[in-house]
Amino acid sequence: KRYRGVHLVMESTLTARDRVGVQDFVLLENYTSEAAFIENLRRRFGENLIYTYIGSVLVSVNPNKDLEIYSKAHMERYRGVSFYEISPHIYAVSDNTYRAMRTERRDQCILISGESGAGKTEASKKILQYYATTCPVTDHLSTLRDRLLQSNPVLEAFGNAKTLRNDNSSRFGKYMDVQFDFRGAPIGGHILNYLLEKSRVVHQNHGERNFHIFYQLLEGGEQDLLSKLGLERNAQKYQYLVKGCCPRVSSINDKNDWRTVRKALTVIGFHEDEVEDLLNIIASVLHLGNTQFGEGKNGENQITTETQLKYLSKLLGVDGAALREALTHKKITAKGEEMISPLSFEQAVAARDALAKAVYGRAFTWLVVKINQSLAFKGSSSVIGLLDIYGFEVFQHNSFEQFCINYCNEKLHQLFIELTLKSEQEEYEAEGITWEPVKYFDNKIICDLVEGKHKGLISILDEECLRPGEPSDISFLEKLEDTLGGHAHFVTHKLSNGKTRKAVSREEFKLIHYAGEVNYSVNGFLDKNKDLLYRNLKEVICQSNSQVLSQCFHREEVTDQKRPETAATQFKNSLAKLIEILMSKEPSYVRCIKPNDAKQSGRFDEALVRHQVKYLGLMENLRVRRAGFAYRRHYETFLQRYKSLCPGTWPNWQGRLADGVATLVQHLGYKPEEYKLGKTKIFIRFPKTLFSTEDSLEARRPALVLTLQTSWRGYRERAKYLRIRQAVIQSAWRGMISRQKARRRRHAVDIIRKFIKGFIYRHYERCPENEYFLDHQRFSFLMMLFRNPPKSVLDKSWPIPPPCLTEASEHLCRLCMRNMMRAYCRRIQPEWKKQMEQKVVASQIFKDQKDSYPQSVPKLFVASRLNSEEFNLKVIQTLGNDKVKYGIAVTKYDRRGYKARPRQLLLTSSFAMLVAEAKLKQRIDYATLRSISVSSLSDGFMVLHVPSEDNKQKSDVVLQCDHLIEVVTKLATMADKKIKVNMSPDSITFAVARGKEGVIDFTSGPELKVAKCKKGHLLVTAPKLNP
Ligand SMILES: Nc1ncnc2c1ncn2[C@@H]1O[C@H](COP(=O)(O)OP(=O)(O)OP(=O)(O)O)[C@@H](O)[C@H]1O
Ligand SMILES: [Mg+2]
Repeated sequence: KRYRGVHLVMESTLTARDRVGVQDFVLLENYTSEAAFIENLRRRFGENLIYTYIGSVLVSVNPNKDLEIYSKAHMERYRGVSFYEISPHIYAVSDNTYRAMRTERRDQCILISGESGAGKTEASKKILQYYATTCPVTDHLSTLRDRLLQSNPVLEAFGNAKTLRNDNSSRFGKYMDVQFDFRGAPIGGHILNYLLEKSRVVHQNHGERNFHIFYQLLEGGEQDLLSKLGLERNAQKYQYLVKGCCPRVSSINDKNDWRTVRKALTVIGFHEDEVEDLLNIIASVLHLGNTQFGEGKNGENQITTETQLKYLSKLLGVDGAALREALTHKKITAKGEEMISPLSFEQAVAARDALAKAVYGRAFTWLVVKINQSLAFKGSSSVIGLLDIYGFEVFQHNSFEQFCINYCNEKLHQLFIELTLKSEQEEYEAEGITWEPVKYFDNKIICDLVEGKHKGLISILDEECLRPGEPSDISFLEKLEDTLGGHAHFVTHKLSNGKTRKAVSREEFKLIHYAGEVNYSVNGFLDKNKDLLYRNLKEVICQSNSQVLSQCFHREEVTDQKRPETAATQFKNSLAKLIEILMSKEPSYVRCIKPNDAKQSGRFDEALVRHQVKYLGLMENLRVRRAGFAYRRHYETFLQRYKSLCPGTWPNWQGRLADGVATLVQHLGYKPEEYKLGKTKIFIRFPKTLFSTEDSLEARRPALVLTLQTSWRGYRERAKYLRIRQAVIQSAWRGMISRQKARRRRHAVDIIRKFIKGFIYRHYERCPENEYFLDHQRFSFLMMLFRNPPKSVLDKSWPIPPPCLTEASEHLCRLCMRNMMRAYCRRIQPEWKKQMEQKVVASQIFKDQKDSYPQSVPKLFVASRLNSEEFNLKVIQTLGNDKVKYGIAVTKYDRRGYKARPRQLLLTSSFAMLVAEAKLKQRIDYATLRSISVSSLSDGFMVLHVPSEDNKQKSDVVLQCDHLIEVVTKLATMADKKIKVNMSPDSITFAVARGKEGVIDFTSGPELKVAKCKKGHLLVTAPKLNP
C-alpha cells in the first residue's frame, strides 16, 4: 500500500531517473529468469536506454545509430557524481574508475568484452574521449592528449577491416594503459597489441574487405604518390583486394579517412621518411598480391610479372634478383649442407603470401612500437587500462584464430570469476554478514585443457609442429584424441558416440567452453601455428635498406639458430602477461551486446541477445550479485541520499553513521528480514524495499527543491553584493596606483629635460638654464670624492673636478693628503720611525747620486753589523763610558802601496775608530772629520777626510765595505749630519802626507775589481746597476 501511494506521487514528478525497466539488474524481482533479464534489456533498448548495470558491471547494447548522449554537457553531468545517482552510462563507469584511481591510488582497468560488432571499440573510444575532455590538462600535456586520441584512427586504419559483422571490425586485440599524474592529468600511454589477423592480408571471405589502409591509400593518396608506388587508383586491380568482392562500403569514406590518418600520423610524431617507408610496405603488399607464377621454358616455375618484381625490389629496398630467387626457391639444410631447391607453383604462391603476411604483420607491430614511443612517459603515475579484445566467436567454420580468441575469453572469464565472486564473498566477510554460497562454474578445467603443460592443446600442437617426419593437421587431431580422449570438455568425431557423432565432422574437434560448444576445424592449424616464412625470403628482407623494414626484420634473426616461438605459444605467453597486468589492477567491466546481425538500429533479435547473455555469463554474474542482497551502499552515501526522509537525520546527522542509518531505516519502516547492517555498509535484500525508499525521496523532492532554492537565492544575492563591494574597492585602489605612477613619470621627464638643457649651457655663466646641471655636476663630484676618497698616502689619483671646482679641488686634495699623512705618522712604531729617519738621511745624501742607492732603499738598516761577541773585550774596556753604537767589518787600504787590511769600524756617539784585533789603530773624532768622499758607482769605497796638524797624526782613511750607504748614513747621523759627503764620478783625491796626495780612479766595468795602476793610482772597476 505504502508502495502504491508513493508511486502515484512519483508519476506526477519529473525525475532524472530512468523510468523504463530497472537500471540495475540487481533490482530485478525475478533475477533468475533469463527471460526477465532479456525483457528488461529489450524494453530499455526500445527507449534508447542502451546502458544497464549489474551492480558495477555495465551492460551496453549497440544502438547502431548516433544517440545524443555523448555531448560535453553529458560528460559534465557524470563528473564526480555517484554511480547510482543518474542513469547508467559509459561515462559513469569512466568517471567512477577515474575517481577510484585518484582517491584510492589504485591502478584500474576497464575490461570491455563482447562479440564482434557489439561496440567494444566504440566504448573504449568514448572512455578515452571522456578522459581527454574532463581531465585537467596543461598546454604541454595537450600534445599528449592529442596523440592518445589520434592513435585510434592510425591503429584502426592498419588493424581494422570491414567484416560481415562489423564495418569497422578490430582485427587485433588491444590493451591500452593511460597514465595519469598526481593531478589526474593524462601524461602518457602504452599499447599492447594481440594477434593481428594476418590471414586477411591475402584472403577475405565474401562480403569482407582487407585492412582499411589499402583502400584509403588507393582512394585518398595523391596521384604523385600512387605513381611513385606504382599503384593505380582502382582496388579491383589488386588480387589481395578482390577476394571479398567488396571494395566499397557505404558507411566508410576511405578518402576522408585517408586524410584523417595522414594527419594523425603527423600528430603522433611520425617522421616523413617513416611514413614513406610504411606506405612503401603497404604498396609492396599489393604488388606481392599481383605477383604471378608460371611455367618457364624448361618447365620450371618462374615469376611472370616483371613489373611487379621491379616495384617490389624498389619499394622493399631489396635486390631484385635475390628476391626473384627467394620467391621461387627454398633453401634447406640437410645433413649440415645447404641446398637450394625450386618451389612448386603452390609452394611459391604460399611463400609469396607468407611474405605479404609477415611484412604486413611486422609493420603493424612496428607501428604500435612507434606510437608507444610517442606516448611514453617514464616516472610515477597512476594507470587506467582499457582492454578492447574480441569476444567469443562461433562461426560455421572455426579455425586457429577462433581457437585463440575463445581461449583468450576463457582466460578473461576466469579472471572475472576470480575477481568478482571472490570480491563479493570477501565483502560479505569484511562486513560481518553471513555469506550464502553461490554455485558457479569454474572454467579452470577448460583453461587447463588448452594451456596445460604437455597435456594441453597448445603443447600438443607445438609438439606436432616440431616433430620430425610428416606431421599434418590430421596427425595433430589424432594426437589430440590420444592424449585428451575422455576429457569432459573435449570431443571429436571418433570419441563421440552415435548420437552426438553427427555434430562433429571428421576434421574437427569440439571444445565445450564455459559459454557453449564450438567446433574447430583442424585444417591449417599447423601452418598457422608455425607462421612459416622461408628462411631465404627472410634473408632477403633482412638485407633491406628500408629503415622501417630493417627495424621489423632484425638481421640476427636469420643467424639465430633458436627455433622461433610458435604463434599459439606466443599468444599464450602474451595472454599470461596480460592477465598478470589485469590482476594487479582493480577491474571494471563493460559487457557489449549487439542486438542484431544486420547492423540495423532499433532491431532487437532476442535469440541473438540470449546467446550473448549466456556467453558473457551475465546471468551468473547477476546471480552472484543477488545471492544475498540486491543492494548495498556505504552508510555515508545512503544517509546522504535519504536523510531528508526522516526528521531525525535531516538536515544533518551528528552521531555515528551506522546509528544514523539505523534511525533512518527504522523511520522508513524497514522490516528486520529486509536489510542487514554491516560494518560500513547497509545491505538491502529486496529491490522493492529500495524502490519504495527511492519513491519516497521523489515525493519529497519538490519540498526539498523549494528549501534549496530559497537558500540558494539568498546565497547568490549575498555573493553578488560581495562581488560588487570588492569591485568598488578594487577600482578605487587601481585609480590611486595609476595616478601615483603618472606623477612619477612626469617628474622623471622634467628632470631629464633640465639635465639636457643644462648640458647644452654648461660652459655659460651660472644662469637659470644650467643651474640644475651645474649643481648636479658639483654634487656628483663631491659625492664621488666622498664615496671614493684616495685610499692611501701613496695613491696619487684624484678625480678631475668640474671647472667651477678646480680651486676647491686642489685644497681638498692637499687637505686630504695631509690628513692621511698625519694618520699614517700616528700609526708608526718607534722602531720604524728610526728606520725611516735614517732612510730620509740616506735619501738626502745619495738619492740620484750613487748608482747603488735604489737597490739599498728596500733593504732595512740594522742596528749593527757586528754582534757584541765580535767586539774585542780589551777595546771595549779602553772605551770606558763610550758605548759602541754600530760596528762593521771593513777593508782598509794603505795610502801608500794600497795594501788591504781587515779592520773593524766602530762608531760611538762622538767618534769613529778603526780596530785590528785588540789594537785601536785610529780614532777619528766627528768634530775633526771634514768630509767623506765616495764614488757615484756601485762600489763600497769611501775616503774619510781627516785633516792632520802634524806628521804624527794619521790623516785620510781609505776604506771599503759592504753596506756602504748604511755606514755613511750612520756616520752622518751620529756626526749630526754636519759632515759633507762628496760624490765623485771618476776619482777621489786624498792626502797621503803633507803636500802629497793619492788618487783612486773609478771606472765602470762588468764586475768589481781593485788594482794598482801605472800612474800609482788605485783603480776601482765597479759594475753599473742602474742605467
Ligand atoms: N554507443 C554507440 N553508439 C552508436 N553507434 C555505436 C555504438 N557502439 C557501436 N556502434 C556502432 O557499431 C559499430 C561497431 O562497433 P565497434 O567497432 O565498437 O564493435 P566492436 O565490438 O569493437 O567489434 P569488433 O570486435 O569487430 O572490433 C560501430 O562502427 C558503430 O557504428
Ligand atoms: Mg573493435
